[in-house]
Amino acid sequence: MKNLLAPAELSFAVTKNDSARSVEEREAILADPGFGTNFTDHMVDICWSEWGGWHRPRVQPYGPIALDPAAAVLHYGQEIFEGMKAYRHADGSIWTFRPEANAERMQRSARRLALPELPTDYFIESLRQLVAVDGDWVPSAPETSLYLRPFMFAKEAFLGVRPAKKVNYYVIASPAGAYFTGGVAPVAIWLSTEYARAGRGGTGAAKTGGNYASSLLAQAEATERGCAQVLFLDSVEGKYVEELGGMNVVLVYKDGTLVTPLSDSILEGITRDSILQLAEDRGLTVERRRVSIDEWREGVASGDIVEMFACGTAAVVTPIAVVKAEDFEIGSADAAAGDLTMSLRQELTDIQYGRLPDRHGWLTRLDG
Ligand code: PLP
Ligand code: COI
Repeated sequence: MKNLLAPAELSFAVTKNDSARSVEEREAILADPGFGTNFTDHMVDICWSEWGGWHRPRVQPYGPIALDPAAAVLHYGQEIFEGMKAYRHADGSIWTFRPEANAERMQRSARRLALPELPTDYFIESLRQLVAVDGDWVPSAPETSLYLRPFMFAKEAFLGVRPAKKVNYYVIASPAGAYFTGGVAPVAIWLSTEYARAGRGGTGAAKTGGNYASSLLAQAEATERGCAQVLFLDSVEGKYVEELGGMNVVLVYKDGTLVTPLSDSILEGITRDSILQLAEDRGLTVERRRVSIDEWREGVASGDIVEMFACGTAAVVTPIAVVKAEDFEIGSADAAAGDLTMSLRQELTDIQYGRLPDRHGWLTRLDG
């Protein structure tokens, strides 16, 4: 597949939205953004074909995408996406966090889903282009951001089962507040023993829609039980902790060691990687290894495990109060947020919002 074929120049055609929201309408949305319900006035769209490579990069008014009913994505789910944020710093400038890591992860997802790889410079340029027209949509209140959602799918109208020869890549953006309605309050999570998120040799490590589709029933069970997220175990032995429906998991031991599951069927979170780096910078030990649900349960019961948290772009770092299972609970619903959890969260967000020096070179400016 000629999937690294890029146009000679990164020249986006820009069509402004004649029906863009007024300043007042935008400010009303930014005052209470919620998560994932409001979108900016524009979007990025880049075409790819097997014969022409990446072409026709453009910024256009946000709006419906015309699809042939036979478009392969609608039948076989050949789709991938990314999730990242644009942060407004105190001086008004707009930054994003480790975009190369998202670009590379999208390339890995693309390989797994037999989609074309979008070159990293093209990926980052697509974010800059969107922010150039929709930068006013980046909110400035504490803890708010503009959530960026790059995605790519098989657009070719063809019902044979093979990798599509026509694909489009888009970026849309959505002003965001807290992902969970309770803000950063500790959450309850539901342990699904009936359903797995990913199987051996499957797509668990890719950010592809099908993984989320297969998590929805388990997520609905979690919601019924008053839990914010579902926790999945490995699909082979049903014993090792994998991740939540949309976040990674980290456990903190009483000696300060942070432990996170190692598995080739979970999504390698950029938030998790960054948090663990910050912990290592503090001299703490980080272990990426298999963790069984029994170890988690016994560790909390014995006092060896003192904190647990979920992390991801949307939810940042969210303390876990309790894991509820059919016949047991780990932790307790009224548990307070852990100190290390909250201080790592603070340090990460301080870097993202430019309140602390960016010592790892994680930030990329998107405006100007
Ligand atoms: N795991 C899953 C299934 C996710 O959807 C996400 C969120 O993107 C993560 C983990 C965390 O990844 P990141 O920190 O890169 O957002
Ligand atoms: C993200 O954190 O970016 C995700 O994609 C997870 C989803 C729960 C919104």
